[in-house]
Amino acid sequence: MNAQDEGQKKVSPNDRIRVALIGAGGMGSGDAESSLKVPGVELVAVADIYQGRLTRAKERWGNQLFTTRDYREVLARPDIDAVIVATPDHWHAKISTDAMNAGKDVYCEKPMIQRVDDGPGVVLAQKKTGRIMQVGSQRVSSIIYKKAQELLNAGAIGELNMVEAWWDRNDAIGAWQYSIPPDASPDNIDWDRFLGRAPKVPFEPLRLFRWRNYRDYGTGVAGDLFVHLFSGMHFVTGAIGPTRVFATGGLRYWKDGRDVPDVFLGLYDYPATGRHPAFNLALRVNFISGAGDNSGFRFVGSEGILTISNGVTVTKTPRDAEPGYTIDTFPQAQQEAFLRDYHKKYPPQTPNADSMRPNVEDKYLAPHGYSDHLDHHRNFIAAVRSRKPVVEDPVFGFRAAGPALLSNISYFEQRVCNWDPETMTLKS
Ligand SMILES: NC(=O)c1ccc[n+]([C@@H]2O[C@H](COP(=O)([O-])OP(=O)(O)OC[C@H]3O[C@@H](n4cnc5c(N)ncnc54)[C@H](O)[C@@H]3O)[C@@H](O)[C@H]2O)c1
Repeated sequence: MNAQDEGQKKVSPNDRIRVALIGAGGMGSGDAESSLKVPGVELVAVADIYQGRLTRAKERWGNQLFTTRDYREVLARPDIDAVIVATPDHWHAKISTDAMNAGKDVYCEKPMIQRVDDGPGVVLAQKKTGRIMQVGSQRVSSIIYKKAQELLNAGAIGELNMVEAWWDRNDAIGAWQYSIPPDASPDNIDWDRFLGRAPKVPFEPLRLFRWRNYRDYGTGVAGDLFVHLFSGMHFVTGAIGPTRVFATGGLRYWKDGRDVPDVFLGLYDYPATGRHPAFNLALRVNFISGAGDNSGFRFVGSEGILTISNGVTVTKTPRDAEPGYTIDTFPQAQQEAFLRDYHKKYPPQTPNADSMRPNVEDKYLAPHGYSDHLDHHRNFIAAVRSRKPVVEDPVFGFRAAGPALLSNISYFEQRVCNWDPETMTLKS
């Protein structure tokens, strides 16, 4: 048992939270499992448009589950307190808004929205209904990111000037080529309900089971992965978003009919705010990275670099105490004059042990088996009980998804996008 495991803790019947899952694929199932590890949570219903996923839900969580292909039947049930929305991206805003209007609290997977203009409606629905809504970028609840935040605030790397983050992969599943169940057919898949607001197209299982590959349902690597990097970075720095967005890339390898790039780069300008100095952000995703999977963050400051991978590392290499000189090409007399002046300012010293510069590397590692995903669900359920606001609310979710989605606009329209992160509006 690790320190996070509270499975046996007693919870009074009044404290029980009855949860339903909408979208029981890979992540939804993981969300349900994490949620069930929080003491007092009960999974009572599952909605999915593919019958096989409903069958699997009963195999996994028991025959007592209420299952349906129509999520509205879940929202109509008065015994459900909260829903997990883990459908493809194009359904997030609609189902989350419907759920809050039906009086449910919502844990919505990232990205909160598929289109920038979905954002204001979700923010408004949460404000109007007063429901708890948490967006599912779990780094915001991570003790690793909390440590990075504390170190940055304490000045561990001096003044921040740049952030780099990347997410590289080199395998078919990492590049979204998920398995198709052999029984997939219009009889056991509610095709129209999958399409929703997307253009009407004939039944094609690839478009459902590999929905990330199509802009009609997904949000490309920007909405899938950059959004995690924005969420984590905003949490660590207190930033609310960039003012300028530029993205480029291409489809280089996974030419399987997808209409989104597999190599993607974004550059973002963050102006100074009360929380941080001006800095630049550079993001990268590469699905054909020959040396394998790798993901991380580098926060670059005037006095050191903070790296996040499986833990946090602060590396500091102090600058030399004197600037040095480049005088070889000056005439002899000029060199002598320069050196007289230089040595007045920086008297020559014989190096000794005390004058050596310390090259410091401090590492902070999370406990073995630590799960930020579990902490994120724990924070959500705590807020459902206390009615206190969550950190990753719809405003936070919009400020993370907004610049990710603008990266797609920049790429497809070949232009720089100007964004107002305060009002969350596209300026041009
Ligand atoms: N937080 C994370 O680390 C993380 C990781 C992976 C995925 N995600 C997010 O989770 C969401 C789901 O991704 P996934 O990998 O589980 O996809 P998936 O394809 O495995 O699952 C999606 C499920 O939704 C169902 N579905 C589609 N339309 C529906 C509708 N209208 N009503 C009910 N069910 C519907 C599908 O049948 C499928 O079972 C995505 O938004 C993704 O970005 C988050």
